[in-house]
Amino acid sequence: MRSFIEGMPKAELHVHLEGTLEPEHIFSLAQRNGIELDYKTPQDVIDAYNFHDLPSFLSIYYAAMGVLREEQDFYELAYQYFEKVATENVLYVELFFDPQAHTSRGVAFATVIDGIHRAQLDAEKNLGIQSRLIMCFLRDLSAESAMEHLEMARPYLERIVGVGLDSDEKDNPPLKFAEVFKRARELGLKLTMHCDVNQKDIVAHLWQCLNDIQVDRIDHGVNALEDEAMCDEIAQRGLGLTVCPVSNRFVVQSLTATEIRTMLQKGMKATVNSDDPAYFRAYMNDNFIALQEEGDFTRDEIVQLSRNAFEVAWIDDVQRKRFLQALDSYAADTA
Ligand code: HPA
Ligand code: ZN
Repeated sequence: MRSFIEGMPKAELHVHLEGTLEPEHIFSLAQRNGIELDYKTPQDVIDAYNFHDLPSFLSIYYAAMGVLREEQDFYELAYQYFEKVATENVLYVELFFDPQAHTSRGVAFATVIDGIHRAQLDAEKNLGIQSRLIMCFLRDLSAESAMEHLEMARPYLERIVGVGLDSDEKDNPPLKFAEVFKRARELGLKLTMHCDVNQKDIVAHLWQCLNDIQVDRIDHGVNALEDEAMCDEIAQRGLGLTVCPVSNRFVVQSLTATEIRTMLQKGMKATVNSDDPAYFRAYMNDNFIALQEEGDFTRDEIVQLSRNAFEVAWIDDVQRKRFLQALDSYAADTA
């Protein structure tokens, strides 16, 4: 199963660019940008990663990204991620980025998006990996700030496929951003939002995503299983759920294999993703392999999870068919 998973064509739909910042890179960027770190070695950084919930993760995540300052820094960050997942047979990526976490430190929006965009072009040319960008708003900041950043993105709209909502979910419901997401929809962008595992009011947040915001996808969304009518609605609409098994383990001490299998059985389009792979120390293959082991997933179930990602990806149907053919041929050739 391990080698089957490693060779399988995959798409990643839930990965935060800033969550791919590896400890060694934190050190090299700190040195280049003349930034003093609280840690002496990359291993010291890893040793500090004792997350147990969303806030404890986010405080380290925001502190570390302070080393990202120049266009080249964002280029390297994105390119290194693409290089890594190209070795894992990831064919397609939808990449989140958090512009507010950079503009708030005096880094221009253009610096961030130009660096990432250049890496996307090079990754397509050199590594054959295709990608699109999802701009996330930080839900613990104001709706006004989110709207300002949507305005900032206007000159770059053809580089962005959708908008998302991340950061601290407690008391920051989807409805807080209803206007911003309505505007994003008018601008032709796809909509997704985090409904993180076991957050306060999570089932209410999920219903807001479905009924008020009318999202095109849900990030995480494992708690939908608590509501039978919600499961039916998600299955019927064919909405993708971007589940992140290793990330979940930091919050619920399980890879949520049972829940993921239940989603598949209910016809919900669950997918497997890494979320913040440098922090959770697991990229795509590690997520799939650990999940398969915990849940004793069959080959068919693993292929279905990968198929779901291509089916719910924000790509055109020609491209989708090409990716699905690659997956089908792989499954047939290795049967
Ligand atoms: N949840 C919320 N915000 C985040 C995450 C996440 O998993 N990763 C980076 N920002
Ligand atoms: Zn996430």
